[in-house]
Amino acid sequence: MNSTLNESSTNLEVQWLDAESPEDFIRHSSTFNSLMMKYRCVIRQIETKLEVLNDEFSVANKRNPISSIKSRVKSPSSIHEKLTRRGFPFTEQSIVTNLDDVAGVRVVCPFISDIYAIAELISSQDDITVLKIKDYIKNPKSNGYRSYHMIVEVPVYFSDGKVPMRAEIQIRTNGMDFWASVDHQLHYKKVMIPGKDVTSIEQALALCAETVNETDQRMEAIKDLIGEFVEPQQI
Ligand code: GTP
Ligand code: MG
Repeated sequence: MNSTLNESSTNLEVQWLDAESPEDFIRHSSTFNSLMMKYRCVIRQIETKLEVLNDEFSVANKRNPISSIKSRVKSPSSIHEKLTRRGFPFTEQSIVTNLDDVAGVRVVCPFISDIYAIAELISSQDDITVLKIKDYIKNPKSNGYRSYHMIVEVPVYFSDGKVPMRAEIQIRTNGMDFWASVDHQLHYKKVMIPGKDVTSIEQALALCAETVNETDQRMEAIKDLIGEFVEPQQI
């Protein structure tokens, strides 16, 4: 391998397929960029599907079943880290075969029933193939994490044809999202706070997850009492 490239190997794209020369690196890096572009495209397609469902529902029911949609393409360093951790090579084929979450879409809903409604509507679209479902709402993780996860495959049309692209969709309530963001901070900071009692923080967080869940259940009951908006009968 070219020594200059080797020295600057903090740039993960240099490690991409073990570049032999700058030309090689540029060629490989453009393959990588092209793959990431495809993941950005599948995200756009899924976002549009979700926005259409949200619009339609809000016209009919005068409220939005989706509070927000956040998307991201996994960073090159996270892709590299996850593949290496699992013992897979850092190649285009390996990314496509071994990673389900390079494209990630997070949908935040007001109510638990909205989560299942959105999941059902997305699943029933005939160009979407649901590959995997993890229902961490019915089966919460031991730390209290709740969310509905789907791995889907959606065909994206490029100039050279149709490519099935995979994405992870996480659907959760505002409360679950708030909890997960604090939990995420703890995971990131865990290594940096050796002096602090991480176990007691985890216990406190687990308790909060239950409180959030109780609130979500109560809000659901209130929503049922109010009922969905029904267009008044025209006279
Ligand atoms: P990953 O290697 O994390 O992708 O695990 P997995 O392939 O078994 O998937 P899983 O469906 O369990 O989790 C996928 C994603 O859900 C993670 O990358 C996080 O974004 C989120 N997630 C899962 N568990 C937790 C958790 O305990 N806390 C938080 N904050 N997020 C979680
Ligand atoms: Mg993941």
